[in-house]
Amino acid sequence: MSETSTTADKLIIFDTTLRDGEQSPGASMTMDEKVRIARALEKMRVDVIEAGFPVASVGDFEAVKAVAEAVKDSTICGLARALDKDIDRAGEALKPANSGRIHTFIATSPIHMKSKLRMSPEQVLEQAVRAVKKARQYTDNVEFSPEDAGRSDLDFLCRVLEAVIDAGASTVNIPDTVGYNIPSQFGALIHNLRERIPNSDRAIFSVHCHNDLGLATANSLAAVMNGARQVECTINGLGERAGNASLEEVVMTVKTRRDIFPCSVDHLDTTQIMSCSRLVSGITGFAVQPNKAIVGANAFAHESGIHQDGVLKHRETYEIMRAEDVGLTTNRMVLGKHSGRNAFRTRLKELGVEFKSESELNEAFSRFKELADKKHEIYDDDLQALVTEASVEAGNEWVKLVALKVCSETGEIPVATISIDVDGEEKESTSEGSGPVDAAFKAIEKIMNSGTELLLYSVNNITTGTDSQGEVTVRLEKGGRIVNGQGADTDIVIASARAYVNALNKIMEPEARSHPQTGDV
Ligand code: KIV
Ligand code: ZN
Repeated sequence: MSETSTTADKLIIFDTTLRDGEQSPGASMTMDEKVRIARALEKMRVDVIEAGFPVASVGDFEAVKAVAEAVKDSTICGLARALDKDIDRAGEALKPANSGRIHTFIATSPIHMKSKLRMSPEQVLEQAVRAVKKARQYTDNVEFSPEDAGRSDLDFLCRVLEAVIDAGASTVNIPDTVGYNIPSQFGALIHNLRERIPNSDRAIFSVHCHNDLGLATANSLAAVMNGARQVECTINGLGERAGNASLEEVVMTVKTRRDIFPCSVDHLDTTQIMSCSRLVSGITGFAVQPNKAIVGANAFAHESGIHQDGVLKHRETYEIMRAEDVGLTTNRMVLGKHSGRNAFRTRLKELGVEFKSESELNEAFSRFKELADKKHEIYDDDLQALVTEASVEAGNEWVKLVALKVCSETGEIPVATISIDVDGEEKESTSEGSGPVDAAFKAIEKIMNSGTELLLYSVNNITTGTDSQGEVTVRLEKGGRIVNGQGADTDIVIASARAYVNALNKIMEPEARSHPQTGDV
């Protein structure tokens, strides 16, 4: 199923978590993490996955290529400025894709043309057309965006879009780059463009809204009501500054209010939303606020007695969506201490996790047994975390946590003794700290002396209860490069040390790259 099989009433969902989402400061992802997220989006049957900005860095190029190799059911898209070198890089990275798209852009607003590009409107128009023709040499699936369309002159926008459609753009995307528009205005913009551009029927109109005024979802939906048939969005609304329109909000609104929208998202498996949201939040370390629509922890929780009573009598008194439709199942106990490998493998398969090899399965199964010894009730979320942890550890090629001992006592200074394996050599050190986690990190640093700065330390419990596994994210920065490390364990000090070690492995990766920022390349 690719987005080229579009029917008139289908809303194309274009996910840009891996590109615009990664432009959130601190949300950088490794290649493996991008592939994991892309696979989860494919499972949701997202139509188009914008996998990155290939010219931005070698890491971005490799990630787009890896996603194009791994994902076969969704169209894979690469971003490119309206420059030959960008388009060549995107074309190259997308070669392995079953269905690839080049997304090229140039700014069209007076302020961007004059102050950023220092180009006249005529030069911009000419470069836009040239870029689309160049991209068409690689694929007939070309998308063009007039950056900052939300603040562009309507007449000029019409001229540019007519010209790029003539040049072969099959999708024209209208970005509200700075999140300045309001829904009635943005809806009218899409309506006017479609009315006034003579060849508008030869392209799909798309929108890409930023959330600076909290209107990204509303603006996107107003555009859909006015003929847009592709929405660009991200999981959890991740993205530059205040983020992009959130995929889960756009999708669930169109699904829930099918009575008013002129198109549908029936082709999507919305039950994948919750696990995608958790995956993205775990990888990026961007926690989801509890009251976030659709995926927040409280989105389906009823606290007040009146609401609880109403829902028990008739669910629809206070619920407009079914929790199951977004993949929120009751966290049931699935496996226990005595469950065998087969039961373990089968349940994980049901959760969409396939092991690449027997040794990967064995490794995950032995972790499961260890966990089952400590925690008697193993839930689906525990299993997911366990698999994530196994892949995190497998990625720790350079530094590995061997052992950790902490001493924390009322009135005493906490002390941690850590043993780590650095490139095959085991090293040990001891340090004091203001708390056990601080002491553990300091002990690691005594050995590693990494020169990194800790930007974020966060802990989330995976399930409820004090025996829950803690999921820790550690964000480190060095020389402008930012990485996120993850660790999970029922002991949060151990989880923290694992997350720190994981972040060190990533930041020291030889091919690690700078955080891509669209404007700076
Ligand atoms: O916000 C924006 O204008 C963009 C474009 C590259 C589509 O991200
Ligand atoms: Zn954007």
